[in-house]
Formats: sequence, structure tokens, C-alpha cells
Amino acid sequence: MSTPTPVTVTVTVTGAGGQIGYALLFRIASGAMFGPGTPVRLQLLEIPAGMKSAEGSALELQDCAFGSLASVEVTSDPARGFEGANVALLVGSRPRGAGMERADLLSANGAIFGPQGAAINAHAAADVRVLVVGNPANTNALIAAAHAPDVPPERFTAMTRLDHNRALAQVARTLDVPVAGIGNVIIWGNHSASQVPDISHGWVRGPDGTRRPLPQALTEALGGTCSLESWLAETFIPRVAKRGAEIIAVRGSSSAASAAAAAIDHVHDWVSGTTDSWTSAGVVSDGSYGVPRGLVSSFPVHSRDGAWQIQQGLEPEAGVRARIAASVSELEEEREMVASMGLIERGYGR
Ligand code: NAD
Ligand code: LMR
Repeated sequence: MSTPTPVTVTVTVTGAGGQIGYALLFRIASGAMFGPGTPVRLQLLEIPAGMKSAEGSALELQDCAFGSLASVEVTSDPARGFEGANVALLVGSRPRGAGMERADLLSANGAIFGPQGAAINAHAAADVRVLVVGNPANTNALIAAAHAPDVPPERFTAMTRLDHNRALAQVARTLDVPVAGIGNVIIWGNHSASQVPDISHGWVRGPDGTRRPLPQALTEALGGTCSLESWLAETFIPRVAKRGAEIIAVRGSSSAASAAAAAIDHVHDWVSGTTDSWTSAGVVSDGSYGVPRGLVSSFPVHSRDGAWQIQQGLEPEAGVRARIAASVSELEEEREMVASMGLIERGYGR
């Protein structure tokens, strides 16, 4: 019997000449997103100012001689860039600088995502999956989806996997256990300082494989030094929610390699499925947990048969519910703002 020829996946990366692009392209090409046996065709979309940088990356990609890289093309034409895309990573947009909040980016970046949504609608493959990384990611995903009437809205997602990974890392450090032993943490809401990192349904796996609830394990690890409630409110939640600003302050520019790693994780799990733990992703709300329909908000999600499904049946505590409501009203304000800027039709998604 002959082995079937693997199907080549076409991946479009916008902003490929930027910081995240440089950290992302080589990992996709090496097989980290779809596995080393799946050939990848990379289509790098840039604006003219970023073309040289993207072309330089294309030369380096050739020089890596990755077995799974089928081809690389660099273009500033969205029609060509999104042609036949099975996966579109919308990274291209301006990052915030020191002192800026994500809302400041709405006017700078919102206008990029309507035309890109329309180009995806017209040129991408029928099974296209879109991950918006460029900030403000949730509302940019909403804008892109609004301009792609033929693509099911659930194929547009926003990246909160970096926040999820940050939460896992903070918990693992506090418990002094490997990250792989932690599951079912949640990021709710917006990818902004209002996001809600939530450990209340989480677990940690011990050396014998048994799972313990995170609240219990963390309470024990904190000992008498502080209560779980004050650790969550004063240390964990602000650390995770403001980590983007911390990176900008320390590094002098916004997170790049960790953002690229999170994009790989998001698409990998979307395509290949989640296993014993859920993860977090910004997906179009179906009204679950009181999040108004149509908003792109972060939820606990499983991936089954190539589609994200929101984990149902959790009962967030009162404090978590109040924080989710605040983050969701920020998303509603962003939706209102982009409607008043003419970037989506008022009432879209409701
Ligand atoms: P960067 O400035 O290094 O690169 C951005 C690139 O996008 C540039 O090369 C630019 O030429 C290009 N670009 C701009 N407009 C474009 C367009 N219309 N089409 C195609 N390309 C375009 O920025 P970066 O550090 O790579 O960050 C990119 C975005 O990702 C920023 O908005 C940043 O805030 C966001 N980000 C999101 C997360 C997240 O967790 N969701 C994490 C980190 C960064
Ligand atoms: C991050 O979370 O690191 C990015 O969204 C960059 C930012 O502006 O915080």
C-alpha cells in the first residue's frame, strides 16, 4: 500500500516583517504548528514599508532548509496574500508603546481589519481559520468577521492564549511544579488589563497522576504568608493581566517570542484538538455565561473535530462574575466605538 501524500496547508501571516512575524515564521516552517509531516505554504503579507524585512525573512527561511516548508511568497497585495489560505494569522498592526492602553490602538489599527476580512472572504479557502493577534485583538476579530459574510463567524478568533500561558506559568512557579502538570485555568473577557484570570476550576497533577484542585494546592503553598483571596487579587490577577505592560516596560517593546509561541499553541490545538485540559481563546459569544451574543470574548474552550466549543456548566464565583461583567462591558464599549467610527454596522453580531 502506498502512503497518502500529505495535504499542504496554506498559512498567511500578515505583518510578517515585524517582531512577532520574525519569531513566528520559523516555528511554523519547522512544523511546530501542524507537525513536521505536514507541508506548509507560507504567504507573507506586508505593507510596502515592511516588505524588505519580510523578504529578508523569506531568504532566511530558505536557508533553514526545513523539510516541511513547501514554499514562501512575500506580497503587499491582500488578494494574493490571502489566496487559498487555510489559516490566516492577522498579526500586522501597530503595537502599543509605553503608557498606551489597548483602546488607544482602536483608531490606529481598527481600519486594517475590515479590508482584510473582506479579502479573506473573497480569496481564502472555504475552511479558513483566522487568528487575530494584532491589538485590540478581540474587537479587531469582530471587525474582520463583520466584513466576511461568507465565512462562518466562529472561524474568527482572537488570541488570549498568551494570557492563558502566563497564568499557567505564574501558578506553576508558585507551586514549584512543571507547567505541564497544571490544567483548567481560564482567561475570561478581553485581551486587556480588564481580563479575568481564574484558577477556581483548575487542577494540579501530582507525581502519582492524581489531580488536586488548584485553590486547595495554592492555599497550602501560600502557607500562612497570605490568604488565597489576597494572593489572587493583589498578585496573580494583576501580574497576568498587566504582563503585557510589564514586558513593554522591561524589554522596551511588546512581547514577541511569547506571542508567537501562543499563536502556535492556539492554531495547533484548534486543528489537532485539546486533550485533558481546556484552554482559553477569544471566540464569538453564543450568549454563554451572560456574554452578549456576537462579542469576541475569551472563554474556556475545548477543540473537537476542528472547532472550538465553549466549556459549559461552570459556575463562576460572585467575584469572578463581577470581573467578567466589567471586562465584557469594555468589549461592548469597543464595539460601540468601532460602530461610531463606521468600521462595522451598528447592531452587527447581536
Ligand atoms: P511590529 O511593529 O514589530 O510589526 C508589525 C508589522 O505589521 C510591521 O512589519 C508592519 O509593517 C506590519 N503591518 C502594519 N499594517 C499592516 C497591514 N495593513 N497589513 C500587513 N502588515 C501590516 O509589531 P509586533 O510586535 O509584531 O506586534 C504586532 C501586533 O501584535 C501589535 O498590535 C501588538 O500589540 C499585538 N500583540 C498581540 C498580542 C496578543 O496576545 N494578542 C501579544 C503581543 C502583541
Ligand atoms: C501583550 O499582552 O503582551 C500584548 O498584547 C502587547 C500589549 O500591548 O500588551
